[in-house]
Amino acid sequence: MKLPSSSATNLHKENMRHMIGMKDFTTQEMDDMMELMTMLKDARRDNAIPPLFKDKSVAMIFEAGSTRTRVSFEVAATLLGGHGLFLSPRDIHLGAKESIDDTARVLSRMCDIVMARTNDPETVDALCRMSTVPVINGLDTRFHPTQMLADLFTIKEHITDGRKLSDLTLAFMGDATDVCRSLLLTCSKYGMKFKQIGPVKYQMQQEWLDLADELCKESGGSYEITDDVNKVSECDVIYGDSFYWVTQMDEKAERLAAFMPDYVITEELMAKAKPGAMLLHCLPANDKEEVTREALEGAYSVAFDEAENRLTAQMAILVYFTHKFSSQPSEETLKKHSERITGFLKQL
Ligand code: CP
Repeated sequence: MKLPSSSATNLHKENMRHMIGMKDFTTQEMDDMMELMTMLKDARRDNAIPPLFKDKSVAMIFEAGSTRTRVSFEVAATLLGGHGLFLSPRDIHLGAKESIDDTARVLSRMCDIVMARTNDPETVDALCRMSTVPVINGLDTRFHPTQMLADLFTIKEHITDGRKLSDLTLAFMGDATDVCRSLLLTCSKYGMKFKQIGPVKYQMQQEWLDLADELCKESGGSYEITDDVNKVSECDVIYGDSFYWVTQMDEKAERLAAFMPDYVITEELMAKAKPGAMLLHCLPANDKEEVTREALEGAYSVAFDEAENRLTAQMAILVYFTHKFSSQPSEETLKKHSERITGFLKQL
């Protein structure tokens, strides 16, 4: 028997895309996603979200822990009339009893989107290679694209005086994490000025700076990598992230010694930033390490709006990827199948 070569739904278009990093999307595409975010956030405020993901499912693979990404994708699917399946390595055979390739093929025949937070970027790449439905990177060691969408949107919501994103300077305080790299490339794409402020040992690798150079050439943006904490005086947005990740616990003491106290976001540091500067943090926060509780709770902090916007972003992503890259059945097709099945059931 010859098996169909792709997803059982046959709805996905030739131009189907995955989301590994925001660098793969044009600013127009990112703007379209943010426009959707605005409309979906308004609809949520009115408790009137259209069922744009009705009867659809997102497979959510989590090899690593998560609060925001996990909850936001699952709630987004529910709010839009669909379903999120939480799949940890304990729940599925991912890479252990079954190859990533076969997992991708099977999930794509049953689900409409695959979202994955993985420990190894190769897992995301393998899912993308074999999946016939869009794969969304929910954070790997390279990029955190869904965080970027929430971050840009949050910054836009809080910009004052009619300024645009390209008028802003954003400082990432800390090491060259996936979030730092994603911000470097996203800011470079949007013509913003980006700074990584942290010790020399933990600064951004050259290959990503080369890519940022190309993006800045097109956008008019710029970047600076520095260990000089006084540079916050030039910044409109101060961004925090943990000084170490769960896989770097053996480096924790060395890292804390390198970053603390100079690069900790405190009320004093925020006072040195440009007037009206805002504080973002991707969370979770260690409020005795990279940011103080006082700074996190300051009037300038939009970290919890940013967290809520993870939900806004995931709603937009589910809608964008299922509607832009797949066809919806016509009323006629729906009627044809309904009549066929109900006709058969009546004869039973
Ligand atoms: N910022 C972020 O990705 O949070 P979680 O790890 O809780 O998903």
